[in-house]
Amino acid sequence: MIRGLRQIDAYVAGAQPQGDKMIKLNTNENAYCPSPKVLEALAHFDGNSLRKYSSLDQAALREALSKQLQVPADQIIVGNGSDDILSMAFLAFFNDDLPVLFPDLTYGFYKVWADLYHINYHEIPLNEQFEIKVADYIADNGGIVLTNPNAPTGIFKPLDEIEKIIQANRDVVVVVDEAYINFGGQTALPLIDKYDNLFITRTFSKDAALAGLRVGYGIGSPKLMAVINAIKNSVNPYNVDALAEKLATVAVEDWEYYEGTCQQIMATRDWFAQGLLDLGFEVLPSRTNFVLAKPQTVSASYLFQKLEEKEIYVRYFSKVVRLKDYLRISIGTQAEMEEVLAEIGGIC
Ligand SMILES: Cc1ncc(COP(=O)(O)O)c(C=O)c1O
Repeated sequence: MIRGLRQIDAYVAGAQPQGDKMIKLNTNENAYCPSPKVLEALAHFDGNSLRKYSSLDQAALREALSKQLQVPADQIIVGNGSDDILSMAFLAFFNDDLPVLFPDLTYGFYKVWADLYHINYHEIPLNEQFEIKVADYIADNGGIVLTNPNAPTGIFKPLDEIEKIIQANRDVVVVVDEAYINFGGQTALPLIDKYDNLFITRTFSKDAALAGLRVGYGIGSPKLMAVINAIKNSVNPYNVDALAEKLATVAVEDWEYYEGTCQQIMATRDWFAQGLLDLGFEVLPSRTNFVLAKPQTVSASYLFQKLEEKEIYVRYFSKVVRLKDYLRISIGTQAEMEEVLAEIGGIC
């Protein structure tokens, strides 16, 4: 027997099946290619530069983000995906005896980090309509984490309600995870100057079509930056590789391209949601690049299996009681979603 080994309930990420024919709609990846300028920068990247460690502060990328978001560069921290940023945020900001609050249905990783870092937490049930109730978050706590728009529901909470929560919790950190913000949400960025307890996280995995590159970032007050930068330098100072920094910088500089692809995805999402409604599904209103939907004539698990047989991969949260009747379906290209809707029509 080996002593000292940890027992961990790990996060279970969406599967990454392989194949040329499949339609992969299970991890909310972007349906479109990264910007052509990103691909060009990749083709011309100087491989010899990889001899050296990557930068310690990602100054070029933070500068580009600063210009795009109108936030000072020293209020931005970059990480290896937003998972890296969120994990550091849990370590940096939640160091209190009172429980950190987050919804029962939200990004499944929050619970895993809280357990891993021995952080006390309390999951607050979303209401019957799968919405956050502001009053639930006006209570003693050791911090708050909200995804807006939420995942896996897709539901968006208006900014004035998010502000009420931040305002009522000035003595703890409120993390707002904006992984899906550019698919029709309303960012909390305008509140950054007003509230030094607000920390926003973003990712290049969804809107920027760079999930495989692993880049995310966080935005917060100088007070919060000092602590999270200390965590970064205590865990992995070179947490963003040189290629990732270069390509993410080019992506930010070519944001117009992404505005176009996000618009396409939103249009396809609304078209697909209507198609599901016409088939009798319940569909939650989505401001993300996925929909959460409940079939009426067959069970969610049956539909999941039937789609998988046709190499259409969607996400079924079989272990989450409140979601056992639902499937989360990422939005692919219009052509892909037309095929998916036709297949669903044939099954249901
Ligand atoms: C709500 C939410 N936050 C964060 C992430 C992590 O994203 P990243 O790829 O940047 O680590 C995801 C990924 O699916 C997500 O759904």
